[in-house]
Amino acid sequence: MDAAPTRRHITHSLLQTAATLGLLRFALAGNALANTVRPLTECWAEDVVTLARDFRQRSLSPLQWQQAIAILNAKVPMDELLSYIDFNRLKAMLEAHGPGEHFERVRLPGLETGSARIWSAVFILSEGDAIPPHAHNNLATAHLVLQGRFHARTFDRVEDTPGRMLLKPSMDAVFGVGETVSMSDDRDNAHWFIAESGAPVFTFDVSMRSPELRQYQNPTDRDGRIFVAPADGRRQDGLVEAEVVDYSTSQNRFGKAANFLMYR
Ligand SMILES: [Fe+2]
Repeated sequence: MDAAPTRRHITHSLLQTAATLGLLRFALAGNALANTVRPLTECWAEDVVTLARDFRQRSLSPLQWQQAIAILNAKVPMDELLSYIDFNRLKAMLEAHGPGEHFERVRLPGLETGSARIWSAVFILSEGDAIPPHAHNNLATAHLVLQGRFHARTFDRVEDTPGRMLLKPSMDAVFGVGETVSMSDDRDNAHWFIAESGAPVFTFDVSMRSPELRQYQNPTDRDGRIFVAPADGRRQDGLVEAEVVDYSTSQNRFGKAANFLMYR
């Protein structure tokens, strides 16, 4: 028959259990890194880099890159991504900036390959705000929605003359958590976004310079954007005339979700 445990034995036993639990937690954390975070960083991020290299080496067209990054991003386990990039800390920091759009550069392991020339960031668009319609020259970007609902209206840029563009409406859709909206010189080059549904939108963005496949007549501003004012209504052929405008004009006319929702 075993002797009744003394207080010292109990205390010792509890300490052993606590130590074992501590080790177990440590081991589980190690496994979590090995089995969940590492695949995210070593597989997903490496695949993002591989796609970028293929794109820059012209093995992928801009359109093919857009299709591939959307498929790749759909496989990312969102909970792991959010914990890995310390989303709560970034969220508080970005929300503290106040209304409008803000971003913070984020580097994930595997996305550190300088030769791929990828920029990655967490981006916020405040509730009720819009990113006015704008285009880019030789740039490709993918926004993976982390939180909120991102309403995107996009246009293909079919003609580019000094001070003007001719746009073909290509998409009017809402993107939720885990979905990706992308743009390139091939498709959705001009775009206009709002944060929908009473909450800010957070996205994880991957951007990179494209091979210079096209020559454009309209230069970008220092942030790489060309703001445009689309005509309210389409031509008979379905295209939309758009005038190049400065940032403040664009912000005044299109900088709120209400403008976006009224426009057709
Ligand atoms: Fe853009």
